[in-house]
Order: sequence, then structure tokens, then C-alpha cells
Amino acid sequence: MPAFSASAPGKIILFGEHAVVYGRPALAVPVTQVQAKAIILANPSGSSSIEAPDIAINSPLDQLPTDHPLAQAVSAVQTELGLKRLPAFRLKITSTIPVASGLGSGAAVSVVIARALSAFLGRPLTEEQVNAIAYRVEQTHHGTPSGIDNTVITYAQPVWYVRGSPFERLNPGLPFTIVIADTGIKVFTGMVVGDMRRRWTEAPGTYEDLFDRIGAISREARQLIENGRPEEIGALMVNNHELLRQLDVSCHELDMLVTSALNAGAIGAKMCGAGRGGNMIALVHEDNAPTVAAALSAAGAVRTIITRVK
Ligand code: PMV
Repeated sequence: MPAFSASAPGKIILFGEHAVVYGRPALAVPVTQVQAKAIILANPSGSSSIEAPDIAINSPLDQLPTDHPLAQAVSAVQTELGLKRLPAFRLKITSTIPVASGLGSGAAVSVVIARALSAFLGRPLTEEQVNAIAYRVEQTHHGTPSGIDNTVITYAQPVWYVRGSPFERLNPGLPFTIVIADTGIKVFTGMVVGDMRRRWTEAPGTYEDLFDRIGAISREARQLIENGRPEEIGALMVNNHELLRQLDVSCHELDMLVTSALNAGAIGAKMCGAGRGGNMIALVHEDNAPTVAAALSAAGAVRTIITRVK
């Protein structure tokens, strides 16, 4: 029996994280420089197993806790296809997307499992089904995910996303360049999102106002991006970062990297994803990208990625 494989990119949120959980629009784009991959083959004489060396897993499937995201993705596929049992397989997951860093590693792994396993079973799922499975796995781990991560990663396109509505493709009028820099601080999205929700419950007015202001920035950014004026989103990134600071989801390291990027000539910069660690992004002139990336490394970033949005 042949092997089946699937891959999916990472992602960054350009504008609107956190506010998107509360119904405001957000913009996200795939990052193809990092990828998750799944490869699966039959194991006719044995039992099913999962190997994921990046997270030190090499285990029979039935010995993984049932609430483990890898086991959950497998059982979500089984449920979706209405199968009582699965033929034995060996599934290997590899990923260059850093874990717990705001680049969508969890959603990408669910997407590749859904694609590779369903193809192996001879019942390839539609993109819509794959997206729904990745969302369900996110829900059990993140509580109240907006759905933006699984959507941008499943469809591997720039997206304009409003929770509960079908996503719209974001169509940049001109390409632009982003430098991504990792603080190296691992943060679990569910924790930051849960903390945000507790604070929102205590003072909804304050947070609703901040979310509205972030939503307004996302709307303005979409116009500028689609009208081929990407350089003008630089100021919006700085404003969005300031609002995220007011939401108390930034941290010293993220703020420092934002400042370093701007000092090195970036047109704009902000944290991206859940915050309190993970990655930040900087909008740069293409020819200045290596300089900004070097400045970010000198300021303590553990890794930088240069990506082109188009
Ligand atoms: O997984 P991250 O770190 O990219 O964060 C997701 C973005 C949030 O808006 C904070 C949560 C969500 O579900 O949209």
C-alpha cells in the first residue's frame, strides 16, 4: 500500500488578534517558509502508532491520552467519516513551525493529519471538513478560538476573517515583505485567551472599546492592502501594537523587538498571535529586510523569517 502525505504552512496574524475572538475582523496570511508534514502508511501486521519527533512523541496510538491533540485529530477524522474502527497505520508528523509561538503549529498539525489520514483511508476530506476538524481540536485546547488559525492554514491564502462568517480572501494590490522574529518565549494560546476572557468578564466596557479600535484598524488595513498601498499599514501596525499593550498581552521582549525593528528602519511592527511571548512581525522595504532581521537577532530574537505577502 502506498504512503500518503500532506503538508500545511504556518501563519501570522497581520491585524486583529484577540479582538477577533470577540467578533471583530482580523487579517492573517500563510507563512510557507515553515511547514507541518504528515506521512502515513499501513501497518498490516501491527497496531497504529504516531511518531512526532519534534515534540518527542513515539507511541502506540492507544497509549496516547485521548485528549492529546494528535489523538484527537485522528479520532475527529474517524468520527467525520463515520468509521467504527481504523486499519492499523504508522503516522509520522514533522514540523518546522515552532510550537507555542503564535505561528499556528497546532492547527497545521491537525490539518495535515486530517488530510493524510483521510487520503490513506480512501475518503479524502474536503477543505471545509479539514478546516472544521482543525477547529474542533483547537476548541478542546484553546477554549474559545476564533477559528482564524485553522482557516488561514487550511486554505493557505491571505484571509479577512470574522468569527462565524465564511472567510474572504484578502487580495493584496501589491506584494509586501514582512520580517518575523521569535522571542523564544513559548506561550500557550489558551492561557492568554483565557486570561483575556476573565479580565473582559470583569470590565467588558473597557475591553469592548479596545476591541472596537482594533477592529477599525483591521478595516483600514484591508483597504490599504487591497488598494496597493501596503507601506501605509506600517503606522496601523504600531497603533495595533499599542492597543495590544493596553490589552496587556504584550511583554517586555516583544516591545523591545518592536522598537529594535523600527530603529532599524522597519515601516511598522507589532506583536502577532496570542502574545506574552511568541513572535512579532515587522513591515519592511524588501531590500532592508536582511538589515532589520539582523537587528532583531542582535536584540535577542532566537529566529527570524523573511516572508513575502502576495
Ligand atoms: O495561536 P496564536 O498565538 O496565533 O493566537 C491566536 C490568535 C488569538 O486571536 C489570540 C486567538 C484566536 O483564537 O483568534
